[in-house]
Amino acid sequence: MMKLEDVKKIAIVGGGSMGHGCAMVFAQAGYPVGMYSRRLETLEKGLEAMRADLTFLAERGLGRLDEVDAIMARVSTTQDMAEAAADADFVLESVAEDMALKQDVFSKLDAMCKPDAILATNTSVMSPTEIASTSKKRDRIIGTHWWNPPFLIPLVEVVQTEETPQWVIDVTMDLHKAIGKRPVHCKKDVPGFIANRLQHALWREALSIVERGIADAKTVDESLKYGPGLRLPVLAPCENADMVGLDLTLSIHNYVLKYLEDSHEPSPLLKEKVEKGELGFKTGGVGYQTWTPEEQKALRARLLGYLTKAIREMNEAEGK
Ligand SMILES: NC(=O)c1ccc[n+]([C@@H]2O[C@H](COP(=O)([O-])OP(=O)(O)OC[C@H]3O[C@@H](n4cnc5c(N)ncnc54)[C@H](O)[C@@H]3O)[C@@H](O)[C@H]2O)c1
Repeated sequence: MMKLEDVKKIAIVGGGSMGHGCAMVFAQAGYPVGMYSRRLETLEKGLEAMRADLTFLAERGLGRLDEVDAIMARVSTTQDMAEAAADADFVLESVAEDMALKQDVFSKLDAMCKPDAILATNTSVMSPTEIASTSKKRDRIIGTHWWNPPFLIPLVEVVQTEETPQWVIDVTMDLHKAIGKRPVHCKKDVPGFIANRLQHALWREALSIVERGIADAKTVDESLKYGPGLRLPVLAPCENADMVGLDLTLSIHNYVLKYLEDSHEPSPLLKEKVEKGELGFKTGGVGYQTWTPEEQKALRARLLGYLTKAIREMNEAEGK
């Protein structure tokens, strides 16, 4: 049985966008990290992106330029999974979202890892229980769902399976707190965990409002951004219910819930757009709205600017 103090080394399996991003966060917190990927090119690109992201953060007051080299030096790379896993106490799998591939990775990790090592999967939507099902070390396997970009979004959903013992949950929660994340414990292995269930309940209603002609896409987004969305970082649903009163919340739900979208299928308009090849930014900017290349670039820049400012303020408020 491990404790947080026993976690000395991290291994990352898969060096794609999430893999190298998570590796960077562990290295920023002082952990030596072994990052495995099949392809040398992925590892090289990952290291390049890490250096660029660390520089980007430092230039915006999140970290220091003179620490970039030391952080980079904590990350070693390998094309041999066993080499990365052998002396790791915590392994984070971040390969492509494919059940058979993930099961294969965990089955191989069985023989490669220290007996007590915790093995985490960064799956976005798949069941950690099913991913663990072909492994001999099912009780060491847990979900840790990071959010993109991993070096900015604090949330990590720690998803237990029915076989996860309490010490694995405790060490995983403690480790993510120690690296400056905001881990939350998802006590049941349910599709969408916590945050994607919330997010897609909102998306389903947004797309339904557009589909039903109640408002166009831009108006739907503005209604959220300039209204309830603005207060969400401070006042989320359960807090809001407490603030306005549960009796008022009950009256509103008694009246309105029956009118809300409750389809178990994706929106027909969404399917139609996908069939027509209108995928948004990746297909010339036509999606729910039409975006010029400049508008696409500006939106991405605004998002990063907003996130860095929000994290800086969060850190300041917490005296970091
Ligand atoms: N991108 C996101 O927003 C996001 C957020 C949270 C979690 N995730 C999850 O993180 C995981 C990785 O996603 P990503 O966005 O980094 O994807 P990515 O495509 O950037 O990286 C996937 C990695 O898997 C490797 N890979 C693919 N097939 C492989 C194989 N057969 N054997 C070994 N390695 C193989 C690739 O080489 C690559 O390094 C997925 O499970 C994804 O659902 C993604």
